Amino acid sequence: MNFLKKKKILLVVTGGIASYKSLDLIRRLQDNDVIIECILTKNAEKFVNVLSFESLLGKKTHSNLFSLDQENNMNHIKLANTCDAVLIAPCTANFLSKMVNGSADDLATNVLLASNKEKIIAPAMNTLMWSNKIVKKNIRDLKKLGTHILSPQAGKLACGSKGSGKLMEVAEIINKLNFIFAPKILNGLKAIVTAGPSLEKIDPVRFISNFSTGHQGYEIANSLANFGAKTILISGPTNIEAAKNVELINVHSGKEFLKKSLENLPCDIFISVAAISDWCTKKISKEKIKKKIKKDFQFILNDDVLKNISFHKKKPRLVIGFSAETHNLLKNTKRKLEDKGCDWILANQVAENNAFSSDTNKIFFFNKKKIDEWPKMKKKMVALKLTKKIVSFFKNNKLLKYEKNLL
Ligand SMILES: Cc1cc2nc3c(=O)[nH]c(=O)nc-3n(C[C@H](O)[C@H](O)[C@H](O)COP(=O)(O)O)c2cc1C
Repeated sequence: MNFLKKKKILLVVTGGIASYKSLDLIRRLQDNDVIIECILTKNAEKFVNVLSFESLLGKKTHSNLFSLDQENNMNHIKLANTCDAVLIAPCTANFLSKMVNGSADDLATNVLLASNKEKIIAPAMNTLMWSNKIVKKNIRDLKKLGTHILSPQAGKLACGSKGSGKLMEVAEIINKLNFIFAPKILNGLKAIVTAGPSLEKIDPVRFISNFSTGHQGYEIANSLANFGAKTILISGPTNIEAAKNVELINVHSGKEFLKKSLENLPCDIFISVAAISDWCTKKISKEKIKKKIKKDFQFILNDDVLKNISFHKKKPRLVIGFSAETHNLLKNTKRKLEDKGCDWILANQVAENNAFSSDTNKIFFFNKKKIDEWPKMKKKMVALKLTKKIVSFFKNNKLLKYEKNLL
């Protein structure tokens, strides 16, 4: 879904080596039907050719605070508030320091001070600059002021060094902008999402677990939060960083998943994406079990989180489960829907290129009346499609209105 369509973005380009990437950014924003005004700082103009920008934009860029011509056509206050958001990409260390301090010594900084719109920065700089404590402090302060930070990535930098500081990929910037502009239509609703694998201890050094990466659950939590739901993510061990607008609770065992889920009730939406082990050992050995001691491990059934929540007296209005099967996916999922008492189940076939280890997922969506087959898609898109269904459930298809305007 393109939430950027017809949005007005004021793009500020500052003077760093990544300034040339703003040209590509402009193209991609235009692909998404964004209306763009562009300010180049005086130093940015040393890095890039203004004519290239003006040719792409089909209009003048802005740079001079004191230009009578530009003032007559579009004064800086007008520029500040005729947009929906100000995007600074790339943002130099110098510029973010000026933002924190409220400097107003050129057109861009004046516009920012005069603007009450969303501010989004995509910093790019040398690794040592990015890890400098002063820069870190400035980033923290900007975050506190509500600025969206599109953090730089790690990679090879123009100065030859390797590390963090590279401008976020343009496609990723577009993705993030799209989420920032997503309508907050789940405002007022609370969601709990479980994700990742459970880890069931056998003794102090061993455990049983599974291949879940947590990717799908994190995407779902992120998507719900972006649409305005207060989202709690209860996660087993993963390598993924949770989004800033999600409250993360780290757990290990199925018992902890259940405890934290119950503690956080009531909620409106509960989505059980975590791969919680069906079994755990009857007793966790206090000492490391020695190889020579013959041991028959006794496994017992683990707590069933989804079932517990579905039959709880504080049952959320919408309870959604996931089912991962290697065989008889549809038959087993249908049985699971009845047995677990949840409202919807998303079934995914566990195969080499699907579910656990993959970036994509092929889903069969079950509710009590029917089964829908979804095409194979990125886990991010599965999250978005599920979010749309949740929005329709709570808002009587209000999202359809948005889709009509935005697609
Ligand atoms: C070749 C060169 C490359 C630079 N690259 C960066 C950069 O990537 N990031 C950064 O924060 N500053 C960089 N700087 C420093 C900025 O240009 C300098 O801080 C300048 O004052 C920024 O001006 P502005 O923030 O008003 O655009 C670079 C300087 C030079 C000479």
